Parts: sequence; C-alpha cells; structure tokens
Amino acid sequence: MGTRGPGVTLDAFTDRYAQRTHGMTASEIRALFAVASRPEVVSLAGGMPNLSALPLDAVGKLMGELVQTRGTQALQYGSGQGDPQLRELICEVMALEGIVASPEDVVVTVGSQQALDLVTRVFCDPGDVVLAEAPSYVGALGTFSAYQADVVHVAMDEHGLVPEALREAIAAVQASGRRAKFLYTVPNFHNPAGVSMVESRRDEVLEICCSAGLLVLEDNPYGLLGFDAPPTRAIRSRSSGPGQQNDDVLYLGSFSKTFAPGLRVGWVLAPHAVREKLVLAAEAAVLCPPQLNQMVVAEYLATQDWQGQVSAFRGMYRERRDAMLDALRQQMPTGTTWTHPTGGFYVWVTLPGDLDSKVLLPRAVTARVAFVPGTAFFADGSGRSHLRLSYCYPTPERIREGVRRLSVVLEEEVELRQTFGSTGISKPSRPQAESPSPDLA
Ligand SMILES: Cc1ncc(COP(=O)(O)O)c(C=O)c1O
Repeated sequence: MGTRGPGVTLDAFTDRYAQRTHGMTASEIRALFAVASRPEVVSLAGGMPNLSALPLDAVGKLMGELVQTRGTQALQYGSGQGDPQLRELICEVMALEGIVASPEDVVVTVGSQQALDLVTRVFCDPGDVVLAEAPSYVGALGTFSAYQADVVHVAMDEHGLVPEALREAIAAVQASGRRAKFLYTVPNFHNPAGVSMVESRRDEVLEICCSAGLLVLEDNPYGLLGFDAPPTRAIRSRSSGPGQQNDDVLYLGSFSKTFAPGLRVGWVLAPHAVREKLVLAAEAAVLCPPQLNQMVVAEYLATQDWQGQVSAFRGMYRERRDAMLDALRQQMPTGTTWTHPTGGFYVWVTLPGDLDSKVLLPRAVTARVAFVPGTAFFADGSGRSHLRLSYCYPTPERIREGVRRLSVVLEEEVELRQTFGSTGISKPSRPQAESPSPDLA
C-alpha cells in the first residue's frame, strides 16, 4: 500500500492482483462491526452466538485435561479429512435430522465457511452459475464471488424457497446457454430471512434439482435451534431409491451455533468421490483442520450433556426472539412487515413505502442502533427495502431498546417522506451527536 496526499490511500498492487480478487470486497457486515461494537450502540446487526450459557468451567477443565493427558496428539498435525473419532460423533449429530452417514464421507472443515469455500473451489469455474435463495447468507455470496461464479437468486416466501421459482430459474439459466452447478440453500431458520423450508417443499426442491442435474448444497448451521418442534428432516436424508439416501446433496454442518464458533469446527458430508476432491482441496489450503479444537469438540460431545446445552441455547434464543417480535409489534410504523422465525437468530424486515435501508443505516447508528441493510444479502445489489435484525446476542431489554430506537428512525423517515416526497431527503431531523463511521458509507 502506498499513500498519496492526506487521507488518500492507493493500492500499488492493483495491476498485479489476480482477476478473482475483483469480486473480493468487504461485506457490509464486516464494515459494521467497528461501529456496532461501541457499547452505546445496540447492535441488532451481527449474528454472534450468545455464549453466556456455556459451562465454561467444564469446557476449561476438559481442555486442560486433554492437553495434559493427550497433548502430544492434540498438539500434533492430524488427518486432512479430520479426526476419525470426531467424524463418528458428527454422524450421530446428523442422525438427529434423519441422516444416515458413514464417517468415511465426512470431511471436517475450519467452520462451515471453509466447507463453502472447498465445495465452490471443487465445482465452480469462473462464469458458472450458482442458484441461491433471495436473500442469501452473505458469507456464501462472498465465497461464490471469490470464485467468480454468477449467482442467480431464487425467490422465497414464508415457507422457504419457492419450487416454481426454482424451475423458472433453471430454465432461464439453460436458455442463456450457461451451466448451473448447484443450488445453495439454508433450509432451516434461514440467515437472513428467518424462515424455514416446509417439509413438502424439501422433496420437491430435491426432485427439481435432480432432474436438472444440479447438486444441492444444504447449509444447516441452525437446524438444532428450533423453538417449537423437533428438527425437520434434512434434505440430505430424503430418499433417492429404496433404502438409499440422496447422494446429490452435499450437507454442511457446524458446531459454531450449538457449541462455540471460536473453535472453528464444521464439516461437509459428501458422496465418496467428491469427498476425495474436498480432502485434496482442504490439504492444499490448511493441511489439516486444527487437531486440538477437533478433540475438544469430540470430548465435549462424548462427555458433556451437549444436547441439554443446546436446549438451554434454544430457551435463551426463544426468549430473545419473543422480545424482538413483541417490540416490533408494538413499535414499528404501519406498513412495516417482518418474518416470524421459529428458530435460529434472525428476523427479516420489509420497510414501508419506498424506505431505503442503506440510506437509513447511518441515521440508525446516530440513533445508537445497528442493523444490516438488505443489500448485503443479494449478489445483484437489490434488497434496499429490507433489513436484517439479529436477536441472538443482546439481552431482551437491549433488544426492546434497540427496536424502539429503530422505530423512531423509521417514523421520522416516513414523516419526512410524507412532508417532502420520496426523493432527495437526506437531511437528518435530529442533531447529530456524532457522525456515523465512514465504514458505513
Ligand atoms: C448460513 C450460514 N452458513 C455458514 C455460516 C458459517 O459458520 P461457521 O463457519 O462458523 O461454521 C454461517 C455463520 O453465520 C451461516 O449463518
């Protein structure tokens, strides 16, 4: 990096970067972290799991004992595919969602984010199409963009991905002479939409993809965090013939939301042949996933009441979801609508009239509340009339206060627009105590 003149930073390497870096730009969530982490701001933006309910003493003891008793293994390189004992336990975790799997077909990854990266690396050439829900998880969009894949969004409604829209998208991609490689879907407690794909659509979506020769990338970090009902059967568990589960589905899992994101342990379940490629790609990237972290997760699953812990997480998140939905109902201006999640971390809000979430964000931060504008979740820059609220991290009191602050900002904007019309209103109606961070521009 070089600098020219005050405040102007030039990147002296620009003409030497690979083509693929052109799609690598900082996500809006990342830019937000700097601002939203100030204590005076109620952040309804980031999706950080709330670890306050974790039994830290027990986890600390377990980690200490691991190093003392099996330190030479725990601190050593391990297998590129991941620790065999952990892979067996992962199969037991997946069985809770109806998946029958062999540890042979599981590859442990550095969070499910690395699984997204490996799968895209293995399947996508530049210009290949990935079908993805509208909206989609921002981290997945970043990965697809880094591999120069083109995202074609497929509509969702309150029951999840719309099968008819999927058929139409596949036909449109075929008609344009391009090749779609897979459908990326988050069927449970969607990030950011806060909805789940209903049972009946899961078979239909799978059938549509299979007949079009498309793989399904089923990303399921929130599946065990349902508030009202046992987990819905995974798409991966659906039958493709008598006694056989479907091999056209690559399933991604993670311990980030059910245990601890800092350990960075996730996995991908893939058909045998694909698994080989994924392991080679993983070895090229990281040699092997961190052995100590994998052994911590394995020990935690084997010796602690981890399902009881997940149940405690569910209770905590349910209370926060209730606080957010109550506050939204009481405070939001007429015409605002939102989803009603039955699990997970997120509520997807649709703004009234032609309000623009990107324009609103700096004002919201001035009013000491943060959210993520809907545009972060679309590859094509759409989504301005939406925003994502997370209820996972703040206390219920902070959530209520955050929604109250947001509702004031929305009310003011609605009033301004009624008074001055919809164009060109950027004048803040209250004195700005502090200017919003340039990060948010
Ligand atoms: C839908 C989805 N997939 C993948 C991830 C990545 O999770 P991790 O890499 O921590 O397993 C997240 C994180 O928020 C997510 O929401």
